[in-house]
Amino acid sequence: MDKESRIPKHVSIIMDGNGRWARERGMERIQGHLVGADSLKAVTEECVAQGVKYLSVYAFSEENWGRPAEEVSFLMGLLMKKVHEEVSLLMDNGVRFVVLGNRARLSRDLDDAITGLEQTTAKNDALTMIVFISYSGKWDILQAAKKFARKAVEDPSIIDDFGFPEFDSLLVTGGIPDPDLIIRTSGEQRISNYLLWQGAYSEFYFTPVLWPDFRKEEFRQALNEYSTRDRRYGKVK
Ligand code: FPP
Repeated sequence: MDKESRIPKHVSIIMDGNGRWARERGMERIQGHLVGADSLKAVTEECVAQGVKYLSVYAFSEENWGRPAEEVSFLMGLLMKKVHEEVSLLMDNGVRFVVLGNRARLSRDLDDAITGLEQTTAKNDALTMIVFISYSGKWDILQAAKKFARKAVEDPSIIDDFGFPEFDSLLVTGGIPDPDLIIRTSGEQRISNYLLWQGAYSEFYFTPVLWPDFRKEEFRQALNEYSTRDRRYGKVK
C-alpha cells in the first residue's frame, strides 16, 4: 500500500460486546453501554490524531428496537445526553457530527437535538463522525430504490443511464466515501445488516476485544493491520 493510503479515509465500527462486558463483571447491560461511550470518545480523538477523515459507528440498528424497552430508552437517553454534553469535544477537535438512519422513528426531541448539533458542527472539517441510528443496510437500499422508482415514474428516460454513482447518491450515505475499513469488536464475524452496499470493497478487521475495552491502542492495532492489506478491488496488480 502506498504511504498516502495507509491511513484509511473512512473507518466504520460495529461496536459490539457491551452487554457481555457488563455481564462478565456482574453489572447491568446498560453499564456496558456507558463505558462503551467512553471508547467512542477515545477512538474519535485517535481518528483526529491519525488523520482519518470519516469515522462511522453502528450505534443502534433497526433490529435493536426489539430490545427490552428499558434498554432502548436508556440508549436513546444516553444519546441525548451525549448530544448535549459533547459539543465542546466536537468543536475543540474540529469534528462534524452527522446522524444517519430512519430518523422518523426517533422522538421529536431527540431528532431536534441531533439536528441542532449537526448544524453547530457543520463547518468542522478535521473529521466527520457519522452515527448510524435506526439504520439497517437493507432499509437503506430499499429507501434508495423507492426514491429511484419515484424519479423513474416521473421521467422514465433516466432509467437506462442510471448507474452506480447515481444510485450511491440516493443512499443515506450519499456524498460520503465508502468505508475502507470495517472493524467489528467482540469476536462476532458477520455484517449484521450494516453497510451492505457501501461495504462492497471494505477491508474487515475482527477482534475479540469487547467494545468497552477497545481504546486508542486497540484502534492503532487495527490501523496497523489495515496498512498491510493488499486492496485489489477484484483486479490484478
Ligand atoms: C452492542 O453491544 C452495542 C450497542 C447496541 C449500542 C452501542 C452504543 C454505544 C457504544 C453507546 C455510545 C454511543 C453513542 C453514540 C452515545 P451489545 O449490547 O449488542 O452487546 P452484547 O452483544 O454483548 O450483548
